[in-house]
Amino acid sequence: MTRPTLSVVGLGYIGLPTAAVLADVGCRVIGIDIDRHAIDTINEGKIHIVEPGLDEMVARVVGEGRLRASDVPEPADAFLIAVPTPFRDDRTPDLSYVRGACEAIAGVLRKGDTVILESTSPVGATEQVLRWISEARPDLAMPRSDGEADIAIAYCPERVLPGNVLVELVRNDRVIGGITPACAQKARSIYATFVEGECILTDARTAEMCKLTENAFRDVNIAFANELSLISDRLDINVWELIRLANRHPRVNILQPGPGVGGHCIACDPWFIVASAPEQARMIRTAREVNDAKPDWVLRKIDAAIDMVANEKRPVVALYGLAFKPDIDDLRDSPALAIARRVAAGARCEVLIVEPYVDELPTGLANARLVNFQETTRADIHVLLVDHSVFKTAQPPDGVRIDTRGMGW
Ligand SMILES: NC(=O)c1ccc[n+]([C@@H]2O[C@H](COP(=O)([O-])OP(=O)(O)OC[C@H]3O[C@@H](n4cnc5c(N)ncnc54)[C@H](O)[C@@H]3O)[C@@H](O)[C@H]2O)c1
Repeated sequence: MTRPTLSVVGLGYIGLPTAAVLADVGCRVIGIDIDRHAIDTINEGKIHIVEPGLDEMVARVVGEGRLRASDVPEPADAFLIAVPTPFRDDRTPDLSYVRGACEAIAGVLRKGDTVILESTSPVGATEQVLRWISEARPDLAMPRSDGEADIAIAYCPERVLPGNVLVELVRNDRVIGGITPACAQKARSIYATFVEGECILTDARTAEMCKLTENAFRDVNIAFANELSLISDRLDINVWELIRLANRHPRVNILQPGPGVGGHCIACDPWFIVASAPEQARMIRTAREVNDAKPDWVLRKIDAAIDMVANEKRPVVALYGLAFKPDIDDLRDSPALAIARRVAAGARCEVLIVEPYVDELPTGLANARLVNFQETTRADIHVLLVDHSVFKTAQPPDGVRIDTRGMGW
């Protein structure tokens, strides 16, 4: 079987692994990005993000000439769009990157091509993609419920777990929503080249809502655990033990509390639902508010610990972890990073940070110092913010300990 030529637009945490896996199964892949550093790094056979196994795969497929990156779109049989979809200050979705990607590829689209939006998107985004492409290419017949189309347009959300992306890209089931059933069928033929999970077809709006629903489900359940942690603290109960015991009920499965919810999926996607149905999405909005308030609660705990020590000396506070979840380098929208920035800005203490996944501290932490685990023995207060595996195996340090992850510190 001749493998198609594919173009992956947006070579970040989702796009680059997808491009590499497609190239690895024998497709010719052209990766498109607007970031020169990303393009140059990939073309050298290297990667600009951290994801286990990805460096070897990219080195191999680039070395064998099956993947290359460019900032200029080229003709291909299918285009997979994996650009950012953040929300604006008013928490409405920002589709400007998707629009930029559509306008960039529109010029090279040919009859028979397939365009698949993979970015997490609000309901209706794939129809918007159709409109943008249609405006740029009035010569192409767009897919409609009746009549022949020149191109296919579909939505297929990504649901991989950072840190296990190369495995989950292949094994997870995929929900594929077409503008028409024929579009969904065409998109499925692309995923069939590398997905071992089931590819389930639906319409574009349901597929868009499906991705948002998955993350809102997680957010609501984490909010329940976070709320329990506040209630337990108030009532002098160990929340970790409480949840462990409650989960012995055969039909109860409570998630774990933490310092907040981060990353640009779970903390972001529920707002897309709230923005499109504000009157109806009451619980989803409240869950977001509960989770967004958790870092303030952790900060109050740290402040109280600083007050205790400050009577005798200027406290040294060690913060463990900045990433938004364990064993990755992704600091985007991380509650741990937000907490660290506010502790460091306070100037009431010396701040040491242990984050094994970064070589230097991000902005906003000028008053803090990146150290290794051994250097925190002189700290008075130890705040565990991320349950990286390396922390799990380490001996809990002496001093005041604030364990936001239930690691037994
Ligand atoms: N990271 C995850 O774990 C994850 C999981 C599921 C879904 N998603 C969704 O996937 C999408 C991409 O997320 P990501 O984490 O890969 O983002 P990312 O920021 O890591 O990568 C996006 C890339 O797109 C590039 N880009 C922006 N505009 C472009 C344009 N017009 N043309 C070409 N390239 C452009 C950026 O330079 C960047 O390299 C988002 O919608 C996100 O919500 C992410």
